[in-house]
Amino acid sequence: MTDADPEPGVGVVVVAAGSGSRLGAGVPKAFVAIGGERIVDRAVRGALAVRAVSQVVVVVPAAYVQGEAGDLAAVHPEPGPVARVTVVAGGAERTDSVRAGLAALDAACAIVLVHDAARCLTPAGVYDRVIAAVRAGDEAVVPGLPVVDTMKVVDADGLVLLTPERARVRAIQTPQGFTRAALDRAHASGQLATDDAALAEACGIPVRVVLGDPLALKVTTPEDLAYAERLLEGAR
Ligand code: CTP
Ligand code: MG
Repeated sequence: MTDADPEPGVGVVVVAAGSGSRLGAGVPKAFVAIGGERIVDRAVRGALAVRAVSQVVVVVPAAYVQGEAGDLAAVHPEPGPVARVTVVAGGAERTDSVRAGLAALDAACAIVLVHDAARCLTPAGVYDRVIAAVRAGDEAVVPGLPVVDTMKVVDADGLVLLTPERARVRAIQTPQGFTRAALDRAHASGQLATDDAALAEACGIPVRVVLGDPLALKVTTPEDLAYAERLLEGAR
């Protein structure tokens, strides 16, 4: 923080340590290219393009820290005020990878965003909305979109347990933003979850949903990859 920037520092943990089993590309998903640029590079570039961001920690598979990802900081040199890029090794589950990233985050980052590298087309506006809500006083903020299908919760046998009112259902994306204190508290439980907000919810932290963006889609399957390529072609 400097005199010119009285706002607390914002750190982004970009989790890119998954294997990408559903994509099945033969290399970890984050190291697959979309439109000629690796998913991890796009994701880091997207985070660095956000004005408020002061540090980016990229979490990659252990075997990629020195080799494939070793050049990440060099690929993203920052002119002017330093937005630092740090590369660390992830863990077996997404939650483990988030924790590894958090451990490498500067103490000066009072606000932390956790972002899936696989959502590498996320526009800066989504980051801005999340950061603005945390700055306005929310401890936990996630981007989400209304759903078009009716959602049902089923049991292990596939029998429907309940149907939430569709108008109240949101499909949740990343970046998910937290005060550092709230995120540390959420992760202190040692539980695993598919997103960080679930850990916050489990310890009673209120989570606000702000508007997400269709471009923040998570590239998961080969069809998603093809769709993302088409989106980029359309944008050119
Ligand atoms: N992730 C991670 N560490 C893990 C698992 C996932 O950093 N142990 C990251 C992925 O790299 C991705 C994000 O979490 O950016 C969301 O996970 P997902 O889309 O499930 O990616 P993968 O786990 O790689 O894919 P799959 O589940 O198909 O293997
Ligand atoms: Mg996964």
